[in-house]
Amino acid sequence: MQKTTTIGFIGAGNMAHALISGLINNGFEASNIKLSDTDTTLLSQRKLEFSVEVFTDNSQVATGCDVVVLAVKPQILSSVCKEIKIHTRHRPLMISIAAGVKSRDINAWLGGGASIVRTMPNTPALVGKGATGMVANDAVSDKQKELAEQILGSVGEYFWVKEETMLDAVTALSGSGPAYFFLMIESMTNAGVALGLDKQIAEKLSIQTALGASTMSKQSADSALELRAKVTSKNGTTQAAIESFQEQNFEIIISHAMRAAFERAREIGFELSDNA
Ligand SMILES: NC(=O)c1ccc[n+]([C@@H]2O[C@H](COP(=O)([O-])OP(=O)(O)OC[C@H]3O[C@@H](n4cnc5c(N)ncnc54)[C@H](OP(=O)(O)O)[C@@H]3O)[C@@H](O)[C@H]2O)c1
Repeated sequence: MQKTTTIGFIGAGNMAHALISGLINNGFEASNIKLSDTDTTLLSQRKLEFSVEVFTDNSQVATGCDVVVLAVKPQILSSVCKEIKIHTRHRPLMISIAAGVKSRDINAWLGGGASIVRTMPNTPALVGKGATGMVANDAVSDKQKELAEQILGSVGEYFWVKEETMLDAVTALSGSGPAYFFLMIESMTNAGVALGLDKQIAEKLSIQTALGASTMSKQSADSALELRAKVTSKNGTTQAAIESFQEQNFEIIISHAMRAAFERAREIGFELSDNA
């Protein structure tokens, strides 16, 4: 990213906080970041923490920035886009992190011809371990794609998908995925307590096991299936647990849950669309 690139964030909430932290930790100049929100207390906190320029008027952020990150809730994205429409005539890269809202709607609200990268990040972005799926519309240049990669890459890993409809699958997998792992941690903790462990110890063991398994899986050349086979000795304790999972159709449970998330993501997309 060039030293002179300017980035404007509209919405100063959790995700904007994560992205601004990531950018600054990666050496991006705070003086090239502008931020707007309706909440003046939040803006003061962000200004104090990051020394970025803050505004209550979204148009002041859109004006002149090379990149505008739309970091407001999906339900108010339409009004925000219409508000900044005349201030984005210089054709900045628009990055939307709003769940469900389609690029063609954002483009229409901005008056057409906008360069849009639509992304689906997840909450671990807040600790620099995010997983983001993203898709670019036809107006996005290669240079703008690189900018999007640098911004989302500052809070974790990113993956381009070819079709925007695939973002619903990304939502079902990594977007909602952190909650699936939280549920696993919660369930393993409760089961450990039922087996006689102290709650605190059971929780710490669950969390560390999740972290260890995830790190091993990431660092190893083996697939998850191979890693599982390696730790499952014949007639051992792990085999007993895995067989119990399989008898209760563990894979089908996961598949149904993700299908439900996928269908809901599509529904939300239609609910928020002007062209459903
Ligand atoms: N958090 C996640 O894990 C996650 C993951 C993937 C995608 N996303 C997407 O990221 C976006 C932001 O999520 P978030 O968790 O950061 O939300 P958030 O913490 O609620 O931040 C949004 C901010 O926008 C402010 N706002 C409301 N109306 C505004 C306006 N007209 N102009 C400017 N700012 C305005 C809100 O203020 P008030 O609170 O006063 O309304 C709030 O401070 C959402 O679209 C969400 O779908 C979030």
